[in-house]
Amino acid sequence: MEEEERIQSQIEKLEDKYKDSGQDLSSYLDGLLYQRYLTYWDYIHLDTLLSLQVPRTHFPDEEIFIMYHQITELYFKLILHEQKQLVDDKSQKLSFFIEKVRRINSYYTALISSFGIMITGMEREQFLQYRMALLPASGFQSAQYRMIEIYATAMEHLVHHTQRDAFSSKNTIEELYENIYWKKGATDVTSGEKTLTLKQFEYRYTPRLIRIARQMEDSNIYHKYLALPKIHRDNQELIASLKVMDLNANVNWPLMHMGSAHRYLGNEGSSIGATGGTNWKEYLPPSFQKVIFFPKIYSKQETNDWGKQWVDHIFNPEKQ
Ligand code: HEM
Repeated sequence: MEEEERIQSQIEKLEDKYKDSGQDLSSYLDGLLYQRYLTYWDYIHLDTLLSLQVPRTHFPDEEIFIMYHQITELYFKLILHEQKQLVDDKSQKLSFFIEKVRRINSYYTALISSFGIMITGMEREQFLQYRMALLPASGFQSAQYRMIEIYATAMEHLVHHTQRDAFSSKNTIEELYENIYWKKGATDVTSGEKTLTLKQFEYRYTPRLIRIARQMEDSNIYHKYLALPKIHRDNQELIASLKVMDLNANVNWPLMHMGSAHRYLGNEGSSIGATGGTNWKEYLPPSFQKVIFFPKIYSKQETNDWGKQWVDHIFNPEKQ
């Protein structure tokens, strides 16, 4: 009897739901009757997912390279998923802010700790051969990586650090975008010629990135933080979690990533050209890029020492 009453009440609720949108409940119940049971493999589109690893050569390790990039892009999507909720949040609740940043950091932790799959998980000889079939593609063309940056901070903080002082929020988004650090990294200093990798990326993504940058002008995560009431802004847990996010995105992940470039492309003294065509030894080190999402939460000393772990590791190993 109790069960019958429960079902009756569920039907009444359904009737209300469909009536409100001018729909006929009975037709929907027919649909329910004919629908197949859901399976795990259909729900997560497993067949599609597992059909997306398509090597361009016969070297077995190329599949590892493809899969790990795909895994990383999914983690980037998870990070963006949390960033978007922070950006849309109107509540200004401290606990919400901290929780979102905590999740973002847990994704970065997974990415950083798994990067060994790239550094020691492939044969160098195979890598150096199959990479030639991928030219001029490069992780440099990861649009989600760039979106994470634009959601995190204001565009003036992404300007190449040698010119950052000359730009501010008074510049247009287009001006800031034109001087963003990664464009400089993929542009020949003397000729001013952009690499093909960069040209392709700009052609495909410029309108989208500019649109997001405009949307984020007054609602990126740094902006949201600065707009919090002072009592929240001074919260030590929040500040600490933002620092971890900044370090994860701009020092710890880049350092692991750079480790892979050194393993495969570094060669005592000389180095092998990267598929994206940057001068990667000068471009990739975090202490040279000096990208900092949340500058006001640091002391001058902290910003001066940004990414210095790498400099110490290379030049002063005994200090480690
Ligand atoms: C063996 C593994 C890898 C090597 C040797 C490598 C090498 C490089 C190099 C040399 C660059 C500089 C751009 C260029 O000239 O191509 C670069 C950029 C980049 N790569 Fe990788 N990479 C590896 C794996 C990955 C993975 C798994 C991802 C994940 C998506 C990734 C994402 C990126 C990103 C986002 C950039 C741009 C970084 C920035 O602008 O600071 N890379 N990579």
